[in-house]
Amino acid sequence: MNILILGSGGREHALAWAVKQNPKCDRLIVAPGNTGIAQIAECADIDIMDGGAVVEFATGNAVDFVIIGPEAPLAVGVADRLRDAGILCFGPGQAAAQLEASKAFTKEICAAVNAPTAAYGHFTDAQAAKDYVRQQGAPIVVKADGLAAGKGVIMAMDLDTALAAIDDMFGGDFGDAGAEVVIEEFMEGEEASFFVLCDGENLLPIGSAQDHKRAYDGDKGPNTGGMGAYSPAPVMTDAVIAKTMDEIVRPTMAEMARRGMPFQGVLFVGLMIKDGQPRLVEYNVRFGDPECQVLMMRLGAQLFDLLQAAAEGRLDQAQVNWADDHALTVVLAADGYPGAYEKGSVIGGLETLPEDSTHMLFHAGTAEKDGQIVATGGRVLAATARGATLAEAQAQAYKMVDMVDWPEGFCRRDIGWRAL
Ligand code: AMP
Ligand code: GLY
Repeated sequence: MNILILGSGGREHALAWAVKQNPKCDRLIVAPGNTGIAQIAECADIDIMDGGAVVEFATGNAVDFVIIGPEAPLAVGVADRLRDAGILCFGPGQAAAQLEASKAFTKEICAAVNAPTAAYGHFTDAQAAKDYVRQQGAPIVVKADGLAAGKGVIMAMDLDTALAAIDDMFGGDFGDAGAEVVIEEFMEGEEASFFVLCDGENLLPIGSAQDHKRAYDGDKGPNTGGMGAYSPAPVMTDAVIAKTMDEIVRPTMAEMARRGMPFQGVLFVGLMIKDGQPRLVEYNVRFGDPECQVLMMRLGAQLFDLLQAAAEGRLDQAQVNWADDHALTVVLAADGYPGAYEKGSVIGGLETLPEDSTHMLFHAGTAEKDGQIVATGGRVLAATARGATLAEAQAQAYKMVDMVDWPEGFCRRDIGWRAL
């Protein structure tokens, strides 16, 4: 089959790496791709936000299957354009992508099916939002309703911070995403991410992971897109998984179908777990980055068969072949990230790293310049390894990190600490 993956991050490098290993894959194209992806696939420079351009490219290149990586093209309906054109595609249409694109939409669905989640209020003006915050008290969480690239969530430990966040959001600090605001009860517990494939009707869990959102060791410093992850997440016991499926995922998916917007793709279920009870923090309608890197490390080539089964509506016949293994990824970021950082520093030593079914260095923000690899993003590389135990996966991943020669970069040294 000819396969097109949309996206350019570490997530898409990991997806490409897994897909490439499947014997069904004849030609693999990633748009726009990145320097690491270019080593295993063709890269094509198309505007992935333009559904018409994607359809034209897919048609012109006899693409049999399109896998959409990031949320932005899903939220503007690129999957709908592809399906309208008769092209097989993995990823939800615009209506179902609201599960990520609108927090108020998700909260309303949760309320309709009684799924456990934080109590909330939804506001379109600052005064009403402030009244609600004063009435509820701190700590409290203030969220921009729309897509804000992970930045639209303020955890306010005191009232003044919450009130200021409301002013910032309605004042336009988060653009259109902040035109509506959701205010939530602050939930305590341990966070985990859980991934479920859906074909509109049938569901198939494909693993759990735990991300490290803070920039520095000991969960200190500013929030980032994710500085590392590991899979599985020990907090996701069989009992917690069963509760998550029964109380949250299955009712949500049934409600989506009932409303005429069946969800097809991967549902990323962000959970807060306390005393064995999972509550929903958020849904995303795509794989996480860097959670995808550890999931792909564990799933390998079968991933492609699973995505195809989801897209073709036959997940009821699919199953995951689990190995009793662990994977861990460490993100290398440019000094200064998630704030301002320099671009263009040279990264050495990459040719010395192992690349096999248990070790892979995924690229996120790199470019090739004069025969050298240079950093071009905030999160730049993800050193990913698999082992029989989490400790072994961690040791292998850090061994890879130590072979990278990049003085202008940094990483956390404690990825996996909570589980080890
Ligand atoms: P979100 O974009 O909704 O996933 O929020 C980003 C992060 O903020 C989550 O991964 C949690 O760490 C935290 N968070 C969001 N909502 C809540 C909540 N209601 N209670 C506690 N933490 C939250
Ligand atoms: N790592 C969190 C996310 O991809 O949203």
